[in-house]
Amino acid sequence: MAEVLVTGGAGFIGSNFVRFALAHHPDWRVTTLDKLTYAGRRENLHDVMNDPRHTFVHGDIADAAVSAPLVEQSDLVVHFAAETHVDRSILAAGDFIKTDVEGTFVLLEAARRAKNLKRFIQISTDEVYGSVASGASVETDELKPRNPYSASKAGADRLAYSYWATYDVPVIITRASNNYGPYQFPEKVIPLFVTNAIDDIPVPLYGDGRQIRDWLHVDDHCRAVDLLIERGTSGEVYNIGGGNEVMNIDLTMKILSGLGKPQSLIKPVADRPGHDRRYCLDTAKLRAVGWTPQVPFETGLRESLEWYRANEWWWRPIKENDPAFRSYYQAQYERRT
Ligand code: NAD
Ligand code: DAU
Repeated sequence: MAEVLVTGGAGFIGSNFVRFALAHHPDWRVTTLDKLTYAGRRENLHDVMNDPRHTFVHGDIADAAVSAPLVEQSDLVVHFAAETHVDRSILAAGDFIKTDVEGTFVLLEAARRAKNLKRFIQISTDEVYGSVASGASVETDELKPRNPYSASKAGADRLAYSYWATYDVPVIITRASNNYGPYQFPEKVIPLFVTNAIDDIPVPLYGDGRQIRDWLHVDDHCRAVDLLIERGTSGEVYNIGGGNEVMNIDLTMKILSGLGKPQSLIKPVADRPGHDRRYCLDTAKLRAVGWTPQVPFETGLRESLEWYRANEWWWRPIKENDPAFRSYYQAQYERRT
């Protein structure tokens, strides 16, 4: 059996990856380490909490007393845990530095001591390249992060690289584009707009709505990480992009028409400060390893709309009763309107 540590496994992508890992690797024992911040939820793992091959540990990656022994006993570490929301990083950046930079440092220090570690997958982001006016980012491009979230992720990305270059920790760095799919916390654009629209609440579109994101289905992301665990090369960076460049305004129209809701729900609001205009990834390097995205955007979006429609048990308590969501939503959108 391989011992696999998934940090941030109670979050959106992490929980999808834990489910994927247990389903595809009968010879893996998976440990989720998660602090259960506002974004981390036991419900995201409801169907695997009692799986005998899965252990859930409630703890902070930056707390070496908890995280280091888990890393030291692992064959594989997949490090998703992070503060992830750009708008929250603009309001208050401290937790981003603590978790994304210092937390990653604590895990990497433990990885130096781990005897059986074969992979340390550092989940970075396409945001480290900054806004891309034209063309597509390749892995060797300069990093130009422009908000506190992406700057902290760039710090972790390069720190992880340095632990490969200096100490031979078997690090692989992935930089994925915008993910969508089930269990995404409903303050990110797709689940926020879908769940607002279901309730006929206006959807707050930032600025002129002509910013571009490249959408990647979370299942395609999981497949890419899984392939890189198997066939990636240590010390290398791999972009993971869905190849679905969509303007925010067009995305909003698709969501509204998919739900049978009127365009009058679109509410233009003040733009995000320093809003990156466009991200775009060149994925030739990952494709050469054998990955291609399998979920067409129209299909993935339609299925996501259906998932949020069918799973109100999951998002309605967050939106209606969770103080962390409600106070953030009020502060964020009162400011903007
Ligand atoms: P998320 O916010 O849904 O989940 C983050 C998880 O990390 C939560 O479960 C949270 O409780 C946990 N966490 C936060 N701080 C922690 C700490 N100190 N110790 C332990 N656990 C902690 O995020 P996500 O969207 O699933 O993103 C996962 C990873 O993927 C992040 O590293 C993010 O930067 C990266 N990423 C996300 C996207 C995207 O579009 N969502 C795209 C590219 C890369
Ligand atoms: O590109 C990868 C990144 O994608 C990840 O690293 C981040 O963790 C993830 O949160 C995501 O960042 P974005 O800032 O792109 O995602 P978000 O869902 O917050 O916003 C997507 C786009 O939608 C962005 O251009 C801002 C816009 N937006 C967002 C919200 C929440 C709106 O117009 N209105 C909104 O209310």
